Amino acid sequence: MCGIFGFLGNRSAAPLLVEGLRKLEYRGYDSSGIAVKNDNLQVHKIVGKVSELSKILPNHIDGNIGIAHTRWATHGLVTNENAHPHLNSDGTVALVHNGIIDNARGIRTRLESKGIQLRSETDSETLVHMITIGLNSGQEPLEAVRQTLKRVTGTWGLCVLFKDHDLIICARNGSPLIIGKGDDETFVSSDPHALSQHTQNIFFLEDGDMAVITKSGIDITRLEGGSSDTSITVLEEEWGEADMAGYPHFMLKEIYEQPEALRRCISGRLDYKNGSSKLGGLKLEPVRLHSATHVRLIGCGTAYNACRIGQLAIESLARIPAVAHVASEFRYNNSVINPNAIHFAVSQSGETADTLSAVKEIQLKGGSVHGIVNVVGSSIARLCGQGVYIHSGPEQAVASTKAFTNMVGALLLFAMRMGRTRSFSREKGQLIVKNFEKIPDLMEKYLSNPGPIDEAVELVKDAKSVMFLGRGLSSPVASEGALKLMEIAYIPCLAYPAGEMKHGPIALLEEGSPVVVIAPNDKHREKTMAAMHECKARGAKIILIHEEGDSIAEEADVAIPIPACDPLLSPLLSVVPTQLIAYQTALALGCDVDRPRNLAKSVTVE
Ligand code: G6P
Repeated sequence: MCGIFGFLGNRSAAPLLVEGLRKLEYRGYDSSGIAVKNDNLQVHKIVGKVSELSKILPNHIDGNIGIAHTRWATHGLVTNENAHPHLNSDGTVALVHNGIIDNARGIRTRLESKGIQLRSETDSETLVHMITIGLNSGQEPLEAVRQTLKRVTGTWGLCVLFKDHDLIICARNGSPLIIGKGDDETFVSSDPHALSQHTQNIFFLEDGDMAVITKSGIDITRLEGGSSDTSITVLEEEWGEADMAGYPHFMLKEIYEQPEALRRCISGRLDYKNGSSKLGGLKLEPVRLHSATHVRLIGCGTAYNACRIGQLAIESLARIPAVAHVASEFRYNNSVINPNAIHFAVSQSGETADTLSAVKEIQLKGGSVHGIVNVVGSSIARLCGQGVYIHSGPEQAVASTKAFTNMVGALLLFAMRMGRTRSFSREKGQLIVKNFEKIPDLMEKYLSNPGPIDEAVELVKDAKSVMFLGRGLSSPVASEGALKLMEIAYIPCLAYPAGEMKHGPIALLEEGSPVVVIAPNDKHREKTMAAMHECKARGAKIILIHEEGDSIAEEADVAIPIPACDPLLSPLLSVVPTQLIAYQTALALGCDVDRPRNLAKSVTVE
């Protein structure tokens, strides 16, 4: 989704801006641009990849202050005019903006009635003209931005550049913005990934913060006036340089990183002695765990699928009602919030607007929320103030893989912790701990010999649609497999609880329809097999993900074995072949695996 990068220092700004945009590419975008201040504001922007932008840039651009943007269209088509930065009419103010200005339509009309010609269809452009009106009436830059933002409603993370001032003005409201302090230079971005190579000293702007970046420093104030409490944080997490390490795509690299990532997630957290887990960041005392009324888990996309696994595991181990919610629905359904309930916001990026809004809604109604988040210091992590970091490391591919397995890992750890407080014995807990410790090795074992993925690809790549079936914990795994294939190979996919398939989706089956069945050797195996037979009887081709050595394999057209494990932990293994099927299918169809069309890695608008 939209990304911002800015620089003010002594070095040449343009190459740093382009490099910053490259770091933001993984988020998904459709156009990009930069503005550099020299004698003028020099703006270059274009539809397409950052590589396209590089092609149209002059060999050298003077100036050591600049702002840059990757756009993911919300208001207006994907065109050069709609790309950011936006310039005012006389080319003296440039602006990049993430978020949505809700009252832009009315403002456009008012601007046009004053004779101002807008060049783009975007909501963002209105801001640059409003700021200009303020400047023309004698306001200083900070005041002009402040008065503009007081007149608009919506969300923003924005940076403004002025031809006549050596500064960048930034503001945040509902869309992340981070300022990085280097030696005699300052960086700004919407994403910590883009700053990590330059500095670990970060100001995470809060909603309502404004910042003026100059050579002499960073001054953060509040939109309503007065100083801000936002202070410098040293990023502890070593995000490092996320390169491809010899893999052809980030997605494949991240699939293969899962064993190591899961080790990081569970390391020091499995508690064999007590048959439990240690999750200090949760700040949940046993008495609170014991008296909780229910658990709600909230997320979007892949995170929601992880929530569904968490729901089942928590209910099964801790014997407490648990429900998974799609964040965008939860936020607007006026849900009843019980302060004694435990709420989890699950998010890789920690910036997803729908999830963030759900957190605010719960907090507003007196509930407390715990984050299950990957990106350290992200908005959800900070807003919750308590939770579990999943420690997947940087996830660059839009299609989430290693974050999914670590979300599931973290939720299973919580289910054990809560279960030990409420229901099951130390011995049972110790058995789970022992089995859990083996999972990263079993993942490695599977990945070293992933089975006939290419045969599965042959069955799905030209299919009209693909059905994914599973029962119990394998039902959300089926959903995750379907989501992955749909996201990156653009094949319509339908995931259904295996038993529900006969109540509708069975109508889709015809000779040769591919059906992916997830059937670990758990209590649902027989019932899943029955659903599989119903599919076969209608001519469907079965791609079966099953436990090694299980005779069920004989029933399949393509049988993909995974190592045997504790059924509770099976999603951590059974999801991996579905990731590989999606990846290999997308490759076979010539799709851009890491940057699928229309999708964004981090969706920061509702
Ligand atoms: C986007 C991505 C999905 C992701 C979802 C939630 O839609 O394309 O892959 O699962 O956002 O993201 P989050 O960062 O909150 O986990």
